Amino acid sequence: MVASGCFSNAPVLNASSGVGHVINVGGVNSYVTGSPLAVLAILLVSDVYGFKAPLLRKIADKVADNGYYVLVPDFLHGDPYDPKNVSRPTRVWLKDHEPGKSSEEAKSIIEALKRKNVSAVGVAGFCWGAKTVTNLAKTELIQASVLLHPSYIVVNDIRGVNVPIAILGAEHDSLSPPKLVKEFEEVLKAKPQIDSYVKVFPNVSHGWTLRYDPTDPKAAMAAGNAHKIMINWFDKHLKK
Ligand SMILES: *[C@@H]1O[C@H](CO)[C@@H](O)[C@H](O)[C@H]1NC(C)=O
Ligand SMILES: *[C@@H]1O[C@H](CO)[C@@H](O)[C@H](O)[C@H]1NC(C)=O
Ligand SMILES: *[C@@H]1O[C@H](CO)[C@@H](O)[C@H](O)[C@H]1NC(C)=O
Ligand SMILES: *[C@@H]1O[C@H](CO)[C@@H](O)[C@H](O)[C@H]1NC(C)=O
Repeated sequence: MVASGCFSNAPVLNASSGVGHVINVGGVNSYVTGSPLAVLAILLVSDVYGFKAPLLRKIADKVADNGYYVLVPDFLHGDPYDPKNVSRPTRVWLKDHEPGKSSEEAKSIIEALKRKNVSAVGVAGFCWGAKTVTNLAKTELIQASVLLHPSYIVVNDIRGVNVPIAILGAEHDSLSPPKLVKEFEEVLKAKPQIDSYVKVFPNVSHGWTLRYDPTDPKAAMAAGNAHKIMINWFDKHLKK
């Protein structure tokens, strides 16, 4: 269960980064950005570093610029993984933050949004956040899903998916190696009634869409391409 790829390249967290702000939605503090009057909403489920990561908020702002009300919920409840805390190794931290457990909270958020005239919801999850997305993708609550370098996802999770799903894997990834991503693809190919997109991106490592060095033009471009694919996927399935 423990793998270093999920926990490397810790970002410097910043509670005031991003153009949005933090409010409580459906019982969960969430960074929100974009017009609250938008009828299309997107939830971004963070990695182990949570909703104060500046690059995650920047991605949320970028998605919002495409006409969405975007939320990044604090599913870690103020307790992101802290690589400096040697008395709490990853395995201990993961016990308190079991991947996928936040799907119940995500459901409350989505129900709150739907009471406020949101007509369709897309959900994307990065690393740790992916399991919450596959749990939601088994329900009728959401209309599109995206996994970015997922962690802790097994073939059975993908078998249960009932909504359009895009999976963006990395060539160098011990958590979801290309071989496993290929298996996901096979499962989805056998379900042609569910629109799917699966791609293993060359020359990138686990975490490349979120914990990249923004001053490295190649890394920034690779991440930007992934964000674009995610946004296009939401446009295809929500703006119709
Ligand atoms: C945190 O984000 C705010 C808003 O973007 C910025 O003004 C501030 O300099 C950032 N703080 C750090 C320590 O980066
Ligand atoms: C480190 O983790 C331990 C065990 O969970 C916790 O009691 C302690 O408060 C943490 N220390 C810091 C500085 O967060
Ligand atoms: C929400 O939608 C209903 C039905 O379309 C409409 O009557 C109501 O005014 C809308 N409320 C807001 C806040 O947009
Ligand atoms: C692979 O990525 C590294 C790191 O971003 C970069 O330096 C290198 O040029 C890339 N190689 C290719 C073939 O694109």
